[in-house]
Amino acid sequence: MNYKKVIQYIGNTPLVQLDFGTPPTVLAKLEYLNPGGSIKDRSALFMIEEAERTGLLKPGGTIIEASSGNQGIAAALIGAVKGYSVIITTNDKFSPEKINTIKAYGAQVVMCPATEYVDDPHSYHSKAVELQKTIPNSFMLNQYYNLTNAKAHYASTGPEIYHQTNGTITHFFAPSGTCGTISGTGKFLKEQNSSIKVIAVDAINSYRTTNGNPKPYKMEGIGVDFPSPILENNHQYIDEFFCVSDEQGLGMLKTMAHKHGLLIGPSSGAVAFAVYEYSKKLSSDDIVVMTFGDSGRAYLTKGFYNN
Ligand SMILES: Cc1ncc(COP(=O)(O)O)c(C=O)c1O
Repeated sequence: MNYKKVIQYIGNTPLVQLDFGTPPTVLAKLEYLNPGGSIKDRSALFMIEEAERTGLLKPGGTIIEASSGNQGIAAALIGAVKGYSVIITTNDKFSPEKINTIKAYGAQVVMCPATEYVDDPHSYHSKAVELQKTIPNSFMLNQYYNLTNAKAHYASTGPEIYHQTNGTITHFFAPSGTCGTISGTGKFLKEQNSSIKVIAVDAINSYRTTNGNPKPYKMEGIGVDFPSPILENNHQYIDEFFCVSDEQGLGMLKTMAHKHGLLIGPSSGAVAFAVYEYSKKLSSDDIVVMTFGDSGRAYLTKGFYNN
């Protein structure tokens, strides 16, 4: 038998059909079924293995990352399997369940104040950069600035979606945070068929949507909160941005669980809202795919799924 380790089961997630009552075929890629519970397993594994290949990460080393939770969970899980120490910087805007999950995989968590900008000197990102400089034999994944993040999706998410739809996909939707998912998947899909529409979903109060004047918002795992180099390098693969408010994105969560049996997190609620609205104007020949990045299990205490 050809048995595999847990991290070899990252990717190859199911693509399920939803009945939205709108004309097109609507499909959701259930990324919360990855071993670490989110789409971030893909980018973390790819960046860690690239760092191993290029010698940036050596045996006995320390993985450092700034994360709203999911990338940290993925790094902690992969670090546990591969025998690295892991340090994750985060802030208290993010769900306690995610932070406790990182600790449960044996990683160290460093709490930082919530800041409006990722590059604020007090932000969780800046703290991770500082730690990387002071800890010998350490490697920072640096998901916001590491272009390898998008390559993970070019290598796996894009090809999977293309093949699971037999090349018939017409529209692709994903939330944008670091913009790794939308950029890498969008690039792959456009290279197969340039008429596939790639639509990034952003928070209405994000840095990008407000032209650099962000306001607080509650959704996690979505929102371009800084001048993203990944986006800058890949903007040609994105046709448009669809912006979603907290009320719209979080408001979808209960319906998705109660009516569709899909317990999804806030960024997936935002994407579901965008697809529902957008697909009203599409035709029955269209095939729409969206990614559901994580599960609602990490947000149960926030009351999004009840009245
Ligand atoms: C659940 C979830 N979905 C989507 C995203 C955004 O994906 P990306 O950072 O690739 O733009 C994130 C980012 O943290 C996430 O945690």
